[in-house]
Formats: sequence, C-alpha cells, structure tokens
Amino acid sequence: MGISAEKLPRHVGFIMDGNGRWAQKRGLPRKMGHRAGAEVFKKIADYCREIGIKYVTFYAFSTENWKRPADEVNALMDLFDKYLDDAEEYARRKTRMLFLGDKAPFRESIRQKMLSIEERTREFDSCTVMLAMNYGGRDDIVYAAKRAAELVSSGYMSTDDITEDMFGGLLYTGDAPDVDLVIRPSGEYRLSNFLIWQCAYAEYYFSDVLWPDFTVSDLDRALTAYSDRNRRFGGV
Ligand code: FPP
Repeated sequence: MGISAEKLPRHVGFIMDGNGRWAQKRGLPRKMGHRAGAEVFKKIADYCREIGIKYVTFYAFSTENWKRPADEVNALMDLFDKYLDDAEEYARRKTRMLFLGDKAPFRESIRQKMLSIEERTREFDSCTVMLAMNYGGRDDIVYAAKRAAELVSSGYMSTDDITEDMFGGLLYTGDAPDVDLVIRPSGEYRLSNFLIWQCAYAEYYFSDVLWPDFTVSDLDRALTAYSDRNRRFGGV
C-alpha cells in the first residue's frame, strides 16, 4: 500500500454487503455467508489498524435487519456472541472498540460482552473500531435529538447551544470525526441508513465484489481511488 499517511482517510465506513448472495452462489445457507463475512471483517479491521487508519466503522446489523427470518437473525446473533469473545485480542492490540446503536434488544450475553469490551478498551486511542449493531442513521439522529431536548429541559443548556458540532457529539459516534470514505461492495449503490449525518461529505467507493470475497487488495484499490479524489467540502 503506497499511499502517504496524509492521503489516507481518517475514518472509513464499510457496508458489509453480499454475504447472502455469496452463500447462495455456492448452494450454502445464508448464514454461511455471514460466517465468511465475519472472518473478512476481522482481516480488514486488522489491516486498517496496521496501515494507520484511525477510525473504522463496520455496518454489522441494521435496525431493519430484525425483519429477516428468525433463523438468519439467530445465526447472526450466535456469530456476534462468538466474535465478542475476542475481547482479549482487541485489548492486546490496543484497539478501542465501540458499538453504535441501542444495545437493549440484544440478548443478555451479547449486551454484557459489548459493555465489557467498551470498558476494557476505553483508554486506547491509536485505532478505534466501531461496530454498528442495531444501528440506523435516523435512529441515531432521533436518539441525539432526545438527549439534546433533555439537556435543554433540565436547564443544562439553552436551545441556542445546539450547534452542529455539539449535536454531532451526541450521536453514537461521539467525538469520532466524520466519515471520509464509505466502501460498499456487492454492486449496490445506496447508503441504507448508515451514518447518514456523519457521511454528509464522505466520498463513496462501490465495487462488485461480494463482502466475503473482499480482500486487502480491494481495500488498497479503494484507498488509492480516495487519494485521487478532490474534496472541496462545498468550497471551490
Ligand atoms: C448484508 O449482506 C450483511 C448483513 C446484514 C450482516 C453483516 C454481518 C457480518 C458480515 C458478520 C459480522 C460479524 C461480526 C462479528 C462483526 P446480505 O445478507 O444482505 O447479503 P445479500 O445482499 O447478498 O443478501
């Protein structure tokens, strides 16, 4: 990867799409696609940390994904349960882990593991890996709006104190910077309610590769494309 540090995005978001199609193409149940996708998640998260990307967010489960058949949802929950046991590994690698979204609907074992990983990795600041789980961009904004309303109604601040910066800090991503680059494999061209506030000025990279086939070379291609983009943020 021959991209200089200043041309690397600070925050990359991945929409891990195409697991189901990957499995179907092989005559396997969809859950096998998610299993393969989870391995890719681990590899890509490690690579991002190695090359010096500071913030990485993976869309693992949306607020809408609960509508999937119960056996697929259960298989995904089993996968999360198992992967969250890697807490020791994250701590050893000095990676901060955060979970974006309301944790309440998850089973107790998953909730406890999420809270414990967040607690154990809180102090690390060289790389932050965020897993969006039960996440929706609109839900994120509504949640932040409720918190802002509470702060005003409790007299802690006035409505004039609500600025873009302040409001952004109330989102699940807290003080993480806005997303610079969104990568969506699998040939779909939409944001699907992923970090809609945080992606206001993001660059997008789409590819036809299905997520379980996504490799570090695909990521290198996306980073190279990003490094050639001319970002103007509304200026000229
Ligand atoms: C979308 O592909 C993918 C998901 C809804 C789940 C993503 C989850 C993982 C990759 C597992 C992550 C695991 C951990 C531990 C973080 P799809 O099922 O919609 O694929 P399709 O469009 O081909 O049907």
